[in-house]
Amino acid sequence: MSILSDPGKIAIIGASGAIGKPLFEALSQWTEIVGTSRRGSTTLAPLDLASEDWDLHFLKGVRLALILAANSKIADCEQNPEQAWQINHRQTLKLAMQLHHRGIQIVFASTDNVFDGKKGPYSEQDSPNPQVVYGATKLAAERDIWNVTQNSAIILRLSKIYDCNPHGSGLLGEIWQQLKRGQIVRAAVDQVFNPLHIDDLIIQIKRLIQDPKPGTWHLCGNERIVRFDLAEQIARRLDQQDCVQAIHLHDLPGVKRPLDTSMTNAKWLHHFPASFQSLDISIDQLVARAGVA
Ligand SMILES: NC(=O)c1ccc[n+]([C@@H]2O[C@H](COP(=O)([O-])OP(=O)(O)OC[C@H]3O[C@@H](n4cnc5c(N)ncnc54)[C@H](OP(=O)(O)O)[C@@H]3O)[C@@H](O)[C@H]2O)c1
Repeated sequence: MSILSDPGKIAIIGASGAIGKPLFEALSQWTEIVGTSRRGSTTLAPLDLASEDWDLHFLKGVRLALILAANSKIADCEQNPEQAWQINHRQTLKLAMQLHHRGIQIVFASTDNVFDGKKGPYSEQDSPNPQVVYGATKLAAERDIWNVTQNSAIILRLSKIYDCNPHGSGLLGEIWQQLKRGQIVRAAVDQVFNPLHIDDLIIQIKRLIQDPKPGTWHLCGNERIVRFDLAEQIARRLDQQDCVQAIHLHDLPGVKRPLDTSMTNAKWLHHFPASFQSLDISIDQLVARAGVA
């Protein structure tokens, strides 16, 4: 397939979330873009997957749509499984069918939580086996979207996406703020994942938009990191290593999340060679933004 010089009009379904908001802003500088949130806003069209009738006029002229909209909160999906299946699977599939019938290329954001976490890192060849409702709903959506689009969809399984905002609620910011408040950070020694910086994700999505390749892709950082080690790395910058307490993930109350959901990105890098920002550099940036020497 040849690389498109004009990316065309792009839609982001779910453009107000942790990924959608920065992605929408970045793509707006680059090409024509429309986005949605449940209620809509001055810049976003309203689209609530929970509703039965959608006004999809905003899709006119759209070439490719990224489906980010979902209930992405693992605990909430576990507590409200019926709602999670309705939003993340049935209604998402219904929307995907409408997009496909309009001839729009679909990119569906899925998750490393489709795996059971017993033997990461997982490649695209490994069989998913979700342990939480969130992962099960996303896997079902992956499979059904693939089928209804006659194998033309792009399924992007993302690892944890992070930024370097010390004041935000992201992966690094949360740990940073706990340490700054003098709190003990309880971090699991058995939780393994490979986070990807949001800026790297945006760059890769732009490449995918220009060169859309159907199939399932693992898009994640290069570094497999244990959550405890990540917390220690951050604490070291504040000389507060003593504030990081080692725990086991399943000691925490609530949902028993999969332990090692790390994935391999070899397939991605083979088709889209890239280098991703290291966690060390990202922590430097976090510290610099927080104004700590
Ligand atoms: N962030 C990560 O680290 C990560 C990792 C792996 C996979 N993913 C996947 O990537 C996608 C985006 O993640 P995110 O972190 O940006 O999620 P998020 O912050 O929870 O944002 C969710 C987005 O979906 C919209 N949404 C929620 N419920 C909706 C509904 N019923 N109908 C229509 N829109 C709805 C939200 O709009 P409102 O503003 O109206 O609520 C928001 O724009 C998700 O599908 C998630 O499963 C994310």
